[in-house]
Amino acid sequence: MRWFFLILAIAVVATVYALGPRGEKFSDPPFELFPDMDHQFKKRPQEPSSFFADGQVARKPVEGTVPLGFAFPHEGNEGNLSTDLDYSRGDDYYNTGQFGDFYGSGFPEEVKIDEEFLARGKERFHISCSPCHGDSGDGQGVVSKYWAIPPTANLIDPRVIAMPEGQIFWTITHGKGLMGPYNGVIPVKDRWAITAYLKALQAASGN
Ligand code: HEC
Repeated sequence: MRWFFLILAIAVVATVYALGPRGEKFSDPPFELFPDMDHQFKKRPQEPSSFFADGQVARKPVEGTVPLGFAFPHEGNEGNLSTDLDYSRGDDYYNTGQFGDFYGSGFPEEVKIDEEFLARGKERFHISCSPCHGDSGDGQGVVSKYWAIPPTANLIDPRVIAMPEGQIFWTITHGKGLMGPYNGVIPVKDRWAITAYLKALQAASGN
């Protein structure tokens, strides 16, 4: 037993000495078993740079960059809906597609359905919806060729045709299943424009 305590004491001292010297200064960087992403080939803002001629890391935006939520005033831009970048989350029908807990039918009085509005909806539909739902809304977008399970919804199916406008607006706003929400991406008015265009596609489908 005596020997045991002696050997234990020596082992403890040896271990502490090997692993735990404190207060000593090392000139070598510590050995990193898992460096994770501690060292990266990147520059932090305000750091100097030897790469760019002006010696600064911070760069100006590329010429012609248009900041999100901003449209340059130019001739013919007055009626451009993209200047109306309104992602607001009010609780009225215009902003939610709902009256209380129910989906509303028809379009809110804030939107005026005319040719220009539908053209806008068509353009936005082709950008945001066609890749999955197809140009005609039949669910045969390009995604369906690569990603067939689960299938993207057929929007000219009688089930979807029966949906009130408010429900379509709500679906664009919040998404459904694998379809993501578009409330931060598509402004409120454009969501109604897409809804109007989708209603036109459904009417034209004859289903
Ligand atoms: C990334 C692919 C994708 C995009 C882009 C997409 N959707 Fe969908 N959408 C889906 C999928 C998948 C479903 C089926 C969701 C489910 O039933 O779980 C669906 C369902 C729907 C439905 C039916 C909802 C229901 O209750 O059955 C509507 C209406 C709809 N999408 C409209 C749109 C509109 C309008 C756009 C463009 C703003 C759009 N979707 C963009 C994938 C997409």
